[in-house]
Amino acid sequence: MNILSPSILAADCSRLGEEISLVEAAGAGYLHIDVMDGMFVPSLSFGMCVVSSLRKVTDMVFDVHLMVEEPIRYIADFAKSGSDIITVHLEACSDVEETLDWIHSLGRKAGLSIKPSTPVSAVEKYLDKIDLLLVMTVEPGFGGQKYIPASTERIREARRLIDARQACVDIEVDGGITVDNVRMVLDAGANIIVAGSAVFNGNSTENVTNMMEILASCPDGKEK
Ligand code: DX5
Ligand code: ZN
Repeated sequence: MNILSPSILAADCSRLGEEISLVEAAGAGYLHIDVMDGMFVPSLSFGMCVVSSLRKVTDMVFDVHLMVEEPIRYIADFAKSGSDIITVHLEACSDVEETLDWIHSLGRKAGLSIKPSTPVSAVEKYLDKIDLLLVMTVEPGFGGQKYIPASTERIREARRLIDARQACVDIEVDGGITVDNVRMVLDAGANIIVAGSAVFNGNSTENVTNMMEILASCPDGKEK
């Protein structure tokens, strides 16, 4: 089953609880929470205190995307605050394996993300250590950017690598996803779709419903 993960970076932060209830009621399964440190990416966003506050208002799966230098320093805090999936960037870890093992040892799912300029083959040696591969489809750091067209072939390559090893790894895509290109990324092999602007700009209930219809009509990339 394909899953929608609305990114709260594009939500109205003065009424986050309400924004989340709406997307949850409309059928989104995950909630994507972008954590930025002003080092790995230029901007700053949410920390663990936002995650633990939101944990009290929803049972959605918290899909936490750490755009943070040496994220191993914060894994325990994010696990404790109620994150279900903790995704780190390959480019940000001095010891990727140790970081992934640490996430698993705390009972959370481990995700590994790559920026658009990182070769997909760089994740190959970690495929047995991860639950999710996040293929960034824009340069990480800001919402509202345009999908990078070369990403489609990168998603296909990731799906080929995963299938060749018969690994059970989800492929998540993040950045510039809209109702107009979501079918293309699903066809390429993604099965978890992050969307910020396309969900929270305008009527989020309608936006999630429209997106979910497309997700339901495409086979899960993992089961193809
Ligand atoms: C970008 C973030 C994304 C962002 C996506 O660095 O990781 O999650 O919120 O926003 P849209 O869907 O607007 O491109
Ligand atoms: Zn993200």
